[in-house]
Amino acid sequence: MANKLSQMCYLAQWFIRAKFFGRRAPMQSVLFISDRCNLSCKHCSVYNHTNPTSKSYEQIREELKYCLSLGSRFVDFEGGEPFLWRDGDKTVDDLCDLAHELGFYSCTITTNAQKPFPNSHADSIWVSLDGIGPSHDAVRGEGTFARLEENVASCHHKALSVSMSVNTLNCDSVPQLLEYVKNSPYIKSVSFNFHTQFPGTEYLTLPQDKREQVIDTIIAYKRKGYPVMNTKAGLTRMKDLQFKKRCWMTNYVLTDGSKHPIPVCGEAGGCEHCGFSMAGEMDAVFNFCPETILAGLNLRV
Ligand SMILES: C[S@@+](CC[C@H](N)C(=O)[O-])C[C@H]1O[C@@H](n2cnc3c(N)ncnc32)[C@H](O)[C@@H]1O
Repeated sequence: MANKLSQMCYLAQWFIRAKFFGRRAPMQSVLFISDRCNLSCKHCSVYNHTNPTSKSYEQIREELKYCLSLGSRFVDFEGGEPFLWRDGDKTVDDLCDLAHELGFYSCTITTNAQKPFPNSHADSIWVSLDGIGPSHDAVRGEGTFARLEENVASCHHKALSVSMSVNTLNCDSVPQLLEYVKNSPYIKSVSFNFHTQFPGTEYLTLPQDKREQVIDTIIAYKRKGYPVMNTKAGLTRMKDLQFKKRCWMTNYVLTDGSKHPIPVCGEAGGCEHCGFSMAGEMDAVFNFCPETILAGLNLRV
């Protein structure tokens, strides 16, 4: 209870400083702990199979302290595949414990769920689910959906949601995925992102009319009560991307240790093809959309 109260105070203070005093400090951090991965997803630019790097526990401790010093209080451990990370006998569970000890309110892990992850110490887990059956496998490789299902069913985590990156290979499976999530006893909600292109993956970007059609479909399902984490205001902004980007609310520390106040795609000027729905959600929060503010509180506190 005291922790929840302190989180609420932190969020209120963060919002007032950002909205009314122009303070540009992150509230959350994405920390890449390794680029080692057990998959080669078609839409991903992060994995490195030739010369994978894994950070040490001590390096991650320093990076967590750095993020705290910027003002951040929520952290997402990213990879590569975070559940493959090791330093001696330490695993990503030790990193979650460390984040809590240092003062983060919560930590999340984004995973492909190809290995069992029972009793994870993360406050919430995001499983990347890019379709149902063959459409997931078309993006992530043969057999990946079956392994994901098995590991999700056996993980016993009470705050597990899924995230879909919508692209030309899987866009038609959005309704099926929504049904699946609604009927799953293991999954709380689904969040949608869209392919953010980098050289060689332009073919995965949805044409504008298809993107708008998919967004309308998601909004229609949300209205019917399906557990969609994105808000209508945030999704609508993602249609034409004509809103102010506020990506400074998250800072990034990459696998090579480099520190970035906004995502690398933004630094490279890729905002016109942005697929990261958090961008739309943040603009909605800044414009006082009650639905989005409530969803943000629900997610964080
Ligand atoms: C880089 S992965 C790493 C974590 C883990 N291995 C996994 O697959 O979830 C983190 C998330 O980024 C998403 N992602 C990767 N490349 C993307 C792209 N080009 N556009 C949009 N989302 C992307 C993935 O679908 C996944 O949900």
